[in-house]
Amino acid sequence: MSKLLDGEVAIITGSTSGMGEAIARRFAKEGAAVVINGTNEERGSRIEYEIVKEGGNAAFFKADVSSASEVEAMVEFALGKFSKLSVLVPNAGILGNGLATEITLETWDKTIGVNLNGVYYLCRYGLPKLIEAGGGKVVVNASIASFKSFPQHPAYCASKGALIPFMKNIAQDYAVHNIRANALCPGPVDTPLIWDSVKAFPNADSIIEETIGMTCVGRLGTPEDVAEAAVFFASDQSSFITGASLTIDGGIMT
Ligand SMILES: NC(=O)c1ccc[n+]([C@@H]2O[C@H](COP(=O)([O-])OP(=O)(O)OC[C@H]3O[C@@H](n4cnc5c(N)ncnc54)[C@H](O)[C@@H]3O)[C@@H](O)[C@H]2O)c1
Repeated sequence: MSKLLDGEVAIITGSTSGMGEAIARRFAKEGAAVVINGTNEERGSRIEYEIVKEGGNAAFFKADVSSASEVEAMVEFALGKFSKLSVLVPNAGILGNGLATEITLETWDKTIGVNLNGVYYLCRYGLPKLIEAGGGKVVVNASIASFKSFPQHPAYCASKGALIPFMKNIAQDYAVHNIRANALCPGPVDTPLIWDSVKAFPNADSIIEETIGMTCVGRLGTPEDVAEAAVFFASDQSSFITGASLTIDGGIMT
C-alpha cells in the first residue's frame, strides 16, 4: 500500500526531542527517509536506531543549526546517504527568555541564530537540492508567537515573527521550481521546551493550567498533533497550499 511520503527524503532539524522527534517518526512511518538532527548524539542515535528497527529509513547527523557550515555539511550528508533531498523541516528552536532590557546580547544572538538563521541556513543550502530533485516542500515550524507576544521572550517573538514573511518569500520565489513552503504555528505543546519556559517560576504548574485555560479544547497539544500537520504540508494532500500559516493551538488564537 502506498504511503503519503513514499520516496521523499527529509531533513528535520531539532528532531532529538519534542515535535521534531514526532515529525521524524511520523515521516518515517509514511515512507520518507529522514535525517534526524540535533546536538545530543546519544538521543539522536537512539531515535535513528528505533526508526530503523521499525523498518524505517533514518540517519542522525549532529549539527548546530546556528552554524552555516554545519548545516551545509548536513545537507551534503543527506545527499550522500539518501541520494536526494526533497523536504526541509526547519524545526529547531530555543526560548532565550528574559525581559528585553535584561537578556544578554549573547542570549539575543543565540536565539536569533538558532530560530531564524538556522531556518535560513537550511533553506540556503537545501533549496538547490530540492530544485535538483525536481521540486519539494519546506515546512517551517514557527509558533503562535509569530503573531502574538509571549511575555518575556523578545528574541523568541522576533525570530518567530520573521519566519512567516521569510516562508512566504520562499513560497513566492521558488514556486517556479515546484517547491511549496508553509508554516506550522503551534500553541502550547507538551514538549521539554514548554516546561523549560515555566520552570523558573515557583507556580510553574498553575502557569500551565492557565495556558490550558486559554485554549478552546482544554488541553496542551501533543507533538503528534503537530506531526500530523507536518505530514499534510509535506505530502500531496496540500498540493494547492503554499505560503500558508496553520495555527495548531487548540483555539488560543480564535
Ligand atoms: N512546545 C511549544 O509549546 C512550542 C510552541 C510553539 C512553537 N514551538 C517550536 O517548536 C519547535 C520545536 O520545539 P519543541 O517544543 O519540540 O521543543 P524541544 O526542546 O523538545 O525541541 C527543540 C529541539 O531543537 C534542538 N536544538 C536546540 N538548539 C539547537 C541547535 N543549535 N542546533 C540543532 N538543534 C537544536 C533541541 O535539541 C531539541 O531537539 C521549536 O522551534 C519551538 O520554538 C514550540
